[in-house]
Amino acid sequence: MTKAREQWGTRIGFILAAAGSAVGLGNIWKYPHMAGEHGGAAFTLVYLFCIIIVGLPILLAEFAIGRKTQLNPVGAFWTLSGSKAWKWVGFLGVAAAFIILSFYSVVGGWTLKYSFLGLSGAFNELLPGSEAASQMYDAFIAKPFEPVLWHLIFMGLCILIIARGVKSGIERWSKILMPLLIVILVILVIRGVTLEGAAAGLEFLFKPKWGDLDAGGVVAALGHSFFTISLGMGAMITYGSYLTPKSDLIRSSLAIIVLDTAIALMAGIAIFTAVFAFGQDPAEGEGLIFVVLPTLFPQIPGGSFFAILFFFLLFLAALTSAVSILEVVTAYFIDEKGWDRVRATFLFGGVIAAVGAVAALSMSGYNILAPITNFTFFNLLNVVSYKYMLPIGGFLTAVFVLARWGIPQFIEELKYGLPGFKAPVAVVAAFFIVAAIVVAYIIIQEIVAVVS
Ligand code: PFF
Repeated sequence: MTKAREQWGTRIGFILAAAGSAVGLGNIWKYPHMAGEHGGAAFTLVYLFCIIIVGLPILLAEFAIGRKTQLNPVGAFWTLSGSKAWKWVGFLGVAAAFIILSFYSVVGGWTLKYSFLGLSGAFNELLPGSEAASQMYDAFIAKPFEPVLWHLIFMGLCILIIARGVKSGIERWSKILMPLLIVILVILVIRGVTLEGAAAGLEFLFKPKWGDLDAGGVVAALGHSFFTISLGMGAMITYGSYLTPKSDLIRSSLAIIVLDTAIALMAGIAIFTAVFAFGQDPAEGEGLIFVVLPTLFPQIPGGSFFAILFFFLLFLAALTSAVSILEVVTAYFIDEKGWDRVRATFLFGGVIAAVGAVAALSMSGYNILAPITNFTFFNLLNVVSYKYMLPIGGFLTAVFVLARWGIPQFIEELKYGLPGFKAPVAVVAAFFIVAAIVVAYIIIQEIVAVVS
């Protein structure tokens, strides 16, 4: 505890690290398949609206709470509120981090496996619409050891980055991996839009058909706006806690949101241009990436190269997000328990890797929940964190700023790094009230859906 707290080295390093957290499987795997299922452009517009109305205020709140306290989420809520009760909001975040990483890294492992499949030419014989690709996917997931092994490799990489610390681990790798990710994505977008028949994919993504958007789509868009900017579990509180008062939170938050959204849209363009060019179904669901895309690459000249690039892109995106999730847990043990970084990272990274292995096995016939339900352990972790823990965490963060910390104090914090900044308390409060109401609505809808 006597050591000085770690800090980001540069502003761009912080922005790339936070954007690395935001840009992940949510942007390249989840967003395209959700847009595909819920009416394309109509879904996208609702999602953009949610990012601005809900995402921006809560992102600013998380950064401000972190920077003000220079602490992990548990310590941050406790210190700022002066009350032990609020530290439970921080605990909810640390618990959510633990749960999310346990299934996220399983999918991270799949991205590695698929990068190698692309490299070995395994997709070369696949035809659009054929069963072979889904058989390949099902056969991989059903194996008891292979998915666990890839997941462990993925977690190992995450642990190695975090163990090096904020500046030499997270920041250094974000500065290398994020520009690489953007370059790969630009190449894939150019490939997608130059395919014959690409226009239908662009139309699907950008021309709203409101009739295709159901209430489920609206709730999904709201929930997704949290996940995609890594809100509701203290990841951004933790990253904010490594900032100095010189940094301008508003400009940084806007940059992160713009990057996250632009990358999701670019992934959507790269994917839907190909899906429509080859007459495939955009509403394929979760299998869109791992089942439909592998059948499209062989139809494209130089397809193997693009297949490798695509799955490697997915892997990079997943890795920089997973790092931010593990950092929440590590920061908690460093700040609150006085642990050494390397010890905290290896121990809790190891525990998460073990829980993740149980999640991976649950998809291959070894589901520990089988005696009580046919829901897999993997799905349970996914649904509990994504649908409940993150929105509840975000809701409580908004309530915290409104009712405990206080809007004037929050505005004071924003002024550091932006001296002339002025904002009427009533307007800022209105943003937070709307955000809290919208999130409460998502949570209630999700609960109603389960109960009914
Ligand atoms: N934002 C990440 C994605 O879109 O994949 C997921 C995520 C990362 C959620 C970090 C929460 C978090 F704290």
